[in-house]
Amino acid sequence: MRGFLELLLAISLWTVSSEAKYGIDESANKAYFNFDNDYVFAMNPTANGDIYFHMSAPAAPNCWIGGGFGSEMNNALMFIAYPAANGHNVTISPRIGNGHSEPTYTPDIEVFGIHNDTYAPNSMTVVKGGAMIMHGMCRNCTKWATGELDLQSTEQPLIFALGPSCSLRSDSPEASIPRHRVHGHYTMNMIEASNATGWYGRVPGPNIPDFVFPPTDAAFVSEWTTPEEDVRYMKNTMPSVHAALMCIAFVVIFPAGSLVLIFLKKVLLHAALQVVGLVIVIAGMGVGVSMSKPYNKVRAGLIVRSV
Ligand code: HEM
Repeated sequence: MRGFLELLLAISLWTVSSEAKYGIDESANKAYFNFDNDYVFAMNPTANGDIYFHMSAPAAPNCWIGGGFGSEMNNALMFIAYPAANGHNVTISPRIGNGHSEPTYTPDIEVFGIHNDTYAPNSMTVVKGGAMIMHGMCRNCTKWATGELDLQSTEQPLIFALGPSCSLRSDSPEASIPRHRVHGHYTMNMIEASNATGWYGRVPGPNIPDFVFPPTDAAFVSEWTTPEEDVRYMKNTMPSVHAALMCIAFVVIFPAGSLVLIFLKKVLLHAALQVVGLVIVIAGMGVGVSMSKPYNKVRAGLIVRSV
């Protein structure tokens, strides 16, 4: 009788565990970072250098979401995800950071989307009105040209960033991305995250018991990571300043300069207004050039022209 009851208990535990229900490997090493249910990054690196990871965030207002290995943008290996051209799939782009500029796509780094986890029916998609969900494997990624992950570290620095609201949709891993609206840091315990001895890895699944299916960001809680640090929200006021200066020059000052000459016959006032207009246009152009400098397309153009 006792044996029968134990068997019943074992069967009922097996049937309710998320491992049994959704194929989540509960015994696998993994670590999770959740920033305000606005962004989740979880990973499981393996001893042979492959990294299995989950990254998700609401698709609005974030037109892209990114996670990176390192303590700052410079030299960090980043995974950036954004909606594909059809607006439904997700494009994943591995890039390396070079200062406070748009990170550069690195074709040497191979990242594959993973679509077949039963606990992630929406992986690699933008859920309508909901999240952008990325499940991937990066082949041989614990070392890259400008850095490496320390799988023995209990405080590996990592970064994250969320893009602004924009209409980015592209199948190209080299798509231009606008500057983030929020960025921050945290550290991860890599000993708990990694399978230090084997090649086997899994995309970390939701880590709260009895999560509601299909899982949202709230089904992932931080585990083996520190809370977010140095979170900064950035407002990009430069485009408005650029537009305002150009509008003032072309819509107000130059027409006013013409009118004083035509109707009031004031030559000196006309000349003064045209000079003021010119100065404002040059200032507006300066703002435009400086705000475009961190972007790859502009930098590529500058490099080509300077050769
Ligand atoms: C077009 C692309 C990007 C541009 C133009 C850009 C620009 C910048 C700028 C100007 C700063 C300094 C802001 C400050 O002092 O608060 C900064 C900081 C930062 N950015 Fe980016 N960024 C871009 C993409 C990314 C991506 C994809 C990530 C991560 C996945 C990221 C993560 C960070 C972090 C963590 C910081 C603070 C640490 C540091 O100073 O490096 N950025 N970025």
